[in-house]
Amino acid sequence: MASRAHPVRRPAELGSSGAPLSALNNIDLLEELLELASAPSRKETVLKLTRRPPETAAAETPLLALFCFADGDCYPPLELLDEGTAARVRELSAADEFGGKAGRLELLRPAAGPRRLLLVGLGERDDLTVERLHEAVVGIVGRVEKLGLKTFSAAPPPLGDGADFAAHHLGLAAGLATFRFDRYRSAEQRERPRVEELSVLGNPELDAALHRAAIVARAQNFARELVSEPVNVLTPVEFARRVAERAAEVGLQVEVHDAAWIRRQGMELIWAVARGAAEEPRFVVLRHHGADGDKPALGLVGKGVMFDSGGYNLKGSGMELMKGDMGGSAAVVGAMLAAAELELPVDVLAVVPAVVNAVDGNAYKPSDVIKSFAGPSVEIGNTDAEGRLTLADGLCWAREQGAERLLDICTLTGASMVALGVRVGALLTNDELLRDKLLGGVERTGELFWELPLFEHYAERLESDIAEIKSTGGKPAGTISAAKFLERFAGDTPWAHLDIAGKEFTDKPYGPYRKGATGFGVRTLVELLESL
Ligand code: BES
Ligand code: ZN
Ligand code: ZN
Repeated sequence: MASRAHPVRRPAELGSSGAPLSALNNIDLLEELLELASAPSRKETVLKLTRRPPETAAAETPLLALFCFADGDCYPPLELLDEGTAARVRELSAADEFGGKAGRLELLRPAAGPRRLLLVGLGERDDLTVERLHEAVVGIVGRVEKLGLKTFSAAPPPLGDGADFAAHHLGLAAGLATFRFDRYRSAEQRERPRVEELSVLGNPELDAALHRAAIVARAQNFARELVSEPVNVLTPVEFARRVAERAAEVGLQVEVHDAAWIRRQGMELIWAVARGAAEEPRFVVLRHHGADGDKPALGLVGKGVMFDSGGYNLKGSGMELMKGDMGGSAAVVGAMLAAAELELPVDVLAVVPAVVNAVDGNAYKPSDVIKSFAGPSVEIGNTDAEGRLTLADGLCWAREQGAERLLDICTLTGASMVALGVRVGALLTNDELLRDKLLGGVERTGELFWELPLFEHYAERLESDIAEIKSTGGKPAGTISAAKFLERFAGDTPWAHLDIAGKEFTDKPYGPYRKGATGFGVRTLVELLESL
């Protein structure tokens, strides 16, 4: 890579008002990293999902994964394998070391048929959940990678309401398990063997499920990539560029608006958060027209804080994780990409106010009073409660566009991690239909959400002495008071709020994830869009 003189940022590069100039978003300093990040040679991690008839189970292939329950039942069924191999599997299934126990793997080298047979324990048949299947698939992918193989086969075990449900989750988990974010690692690390293809044993009726799995996995992996990128690469401008590029490829309608447009609209809450940062904000709009309605059935709004320093109420520990404070917007983008590729018959509008919450002479301050897009004046309680401000204006703009229902998804409150932990999102809603569909999706997606209440008295904490509403409600029930703030802006429009703070990354492997960005929310939103 050619070395480049790093330009010194002179004060003159800032406008007289202190407002950042767009030039700052394109400084040479970033060019090398951006080149690295979008080099055409960069291979996206996409797993190819193919299908072949179950009768080919005994064919000579590099590796066949054999799912085994504790009761000895296996998928694909042992009758499809040669006698000797089947007998050996029965033996192991009865033995204590393997016994079909959840999480156990056992590698065999059969004399005939597949060159390797990987027994994968699933535990008790009745205990099999989407999450357990995902974990088993991650185990398989890890082992296949270690063996240096590029492809493996597997058959869906019985789960849910049909073979296509299980096939979907088999393909999806494999697609998610092969995700890596390694673009800034050494060439050696980047070239580690990776699985490129999963061949699913099954009949043609599984094709649609596999097609859907490939699309959802790719969309979710795109979201994970966005979450993984640090803000020195993924500024609001770069976020908008990447999203617009991908959205155009799948046929979404895209609009990207700049700071001047945001201000002309009167979205002063968004501008208040954005104006302390050297990185210019963007307002990204995606539209999917799958039905012929004149109004979007749903307006999705994602929190897109590319980095959250806390502003003047500067964060203490954990600030490095705040490159993921755009996890909600990544989920929205992922879901929109999938909606377009799946050609879902629904009209959806998606909005992302993309900003950076930074500290600067021009940054907003606690006690500032700011007029929202919808009208009400807001007293700023704490500059670290920035997400709800960007969402409030985003929601109202989506409402003005005619969205019949609204949904926002965001890494909004640390309190949601205190209440529900790092694997369960909070749902708060004023609408029965959205509640039923979102909670109904939990079992189908394996993404967990739990409802919290919106009792009226929680709003009392948001009363302001000098403005119409205050942005923060103090320590008690922080997730709920944040939602009460947003509820005010949703007005009488049916609305649901998903607080996924802490779910955008995981520090421990679970479900289909290894350590790192999860893309949490994509599957729930896709499931919702499919059900509308
Ligand atoms: N982005 C944070 C919330 C967050 C915390 C996300 C941990 C992911 C992991 C949000 O902007 C924030 O700082 N919220 C404050 C609100 C408070 C000042 C009312 C919080 O939760 O402490
Ligand atoms: Zn914050
Ligand atoms: Zn935040």
